Amino acid sequence: MITILPISKKENTSKVYVVSDLIQLSSLGFNEDEFNYLKESLKDDFEWKLINRLKEQIYVVKVKDKPTSQSQEKIRKAGANITKSLNEFKQKEVAVYDKTKEEAYLSSIAEGMALANYQFLKYFKDAKNKTNTLKSIYAQSKDISKEQLLELNAIVEATFWARDLVNEPVSFLNAEELSNQIVEMGKKANFKVEVLDQIKLETLKMGGLLAVNKGSLDPATFTKMEWKPKSAKNKKPIILVGKGVVYDTGGLSLKPTANSMDIMKCDMGGAAAVSCAIYAIAKAKLPIHIVGLVPATDNRPGGNAYAPGDVVTMFDGTTVEVLNTDAEGRMILADALAYAKKYKPELVIDAATLTGSAMRAIGSYGSVVMGTASDTAFNKLEESGENTYERTVRFPFWDEYAQEIKSPIADIKNLGGASAGAITAGKFLEHFTDYPWIHVDIAGPAWADSDSGYLSKGGTGTGVRLFFDFVKNY
Ligand code: BES
Ligand code: ZN
Ligand code: ZN
Repeated sequence: MITILPISKKENTSKVYVVSDLIQLSSLGFNEDEFNYLKESLKDDFEWKLINRLKEQIYVVKVKDKPTSQSQEKIRKAGANITKSLNEFKQKEVAVYDKTKEEAYLSSIAEGMALANYQFLKYFKDAKNKTNTLKSIYAQSKDISKEQLLELNAIVEATFWARDLVNEPVSFLNAEELSNQIVEMGKKANFKVEVLDQIKLETLKMGGLLAVNKGSLDPATFTKMEWKPKSAKNKKPIILVGKGVVYDTGGLSLKPTANSMDIMKCDMGGAAAVSCAIYAIAKAKLPIHIVGLVPATDNRPGGNAYAPGDVVTMFDGTTVEVLNTDAEGRMILADALAYAKKYKPELVIDAATLTGSAMRAIGSYGSVVMGTASDTAFNKLEESGENTYERTVRFPFWDEYAQEIKSPIADIKNLGGASAGAITAGKFLEHFTDYPWIHVDIAGPAWADSDSGYLSKGGTGTGVRLFFDFVKNY
């Protein structure tokens, strides 16, 4: 863990100075050589330089005057690299001073520094030796309020938890363990959690979720979360729904692409985003009534696995012709989206590692969004995407796409045509909604193939910061 704290008076600690003008360096106690070195070498904006005093490291970052989405991301990344450097120097703490009077830069650099300190070491024998030394980031308190520090810490902790959940293999994190983890979140942040077990799902006739679970030895679960503070500003809840496929083999339509299964423990990235966002929201006590729904199972080709050609009766009574068992995410989400109707929600957002199509379209730099919510809601989400750099891009959602999921023997089928796969998947989901709704396909950004900036190879926790910011500004 890493904590961001208000600054203490300790002098002998490593420091980071954020400056917008080199004049600001003159009051920071550098000797003439150091001062001249910084003046000459700090040319580009968002570059940082290190003055190494052996016992302590002094970093200087130069920024442009006004914070923007782009520049805040640059300073997050500068912060991430500084964290790497501090750990190489085995530093335990660092103090961050802002000389620019732009609070946004201070919180962004602290966020980037903290997020970059993430490690997933659980399965190493010598985890202790590998653990980062950095434990505390002190941020100049006059520029950052107590609430902001609380929020930052909640976001960082929640993002780390989401990354852990994605990085955990299915040998540990099956559907029941995912539910246990969410129960744990509820206890720690004081929100309500209820887990529906296999028997309950059978009595409720959650046909989509149960069909996907048929090839599995582990039971399915459906986890409900609720954060309802007395101060809630909304009368009808906002609902977050997350795809919780703890492992996706493709089922009987076994994944055809070599090695594509290697990262399929990431297929509960939507569930991680949703549950951990609610965890952060509850920890920060945001005044919004939120409900979270996570249907969870693995998707395997075991003995009684659902098969191409099957017709499945879903929770809401819709019949679905299954033509590809690898299109399982929409099967379990459909039941959760139909279940969401009973809350008469103001808005429903689902997050899912749903399609390779979304990833192929825009890569891992953002999420694909579509749906039936108002333009205002989409714009707000896009704005949050810029604030957090978990960007979203809206895809068309024309009626014509729905033609492709018509079935000759059932109400709809779970497979569209050869093109626009992300959108036809969205159209399948739309069938189960009757409220304003946004679908967020996070197949691209949920997993990082390599370390980069404040992301490390593996689970990214994408969605946590996006949804937190969206709810905060709601
Ligand atoms: N979990 C996958 C989508 C995915 C792909 C997530 C890559 C993360 C990275 C999903 O269940 C899937 O298999 N989708 C299929 C649907 C197809 C069979 C209609 C796909 O996109 O290929
Ligand atoms: Zn699949
Ligand atoms: Zn999947």
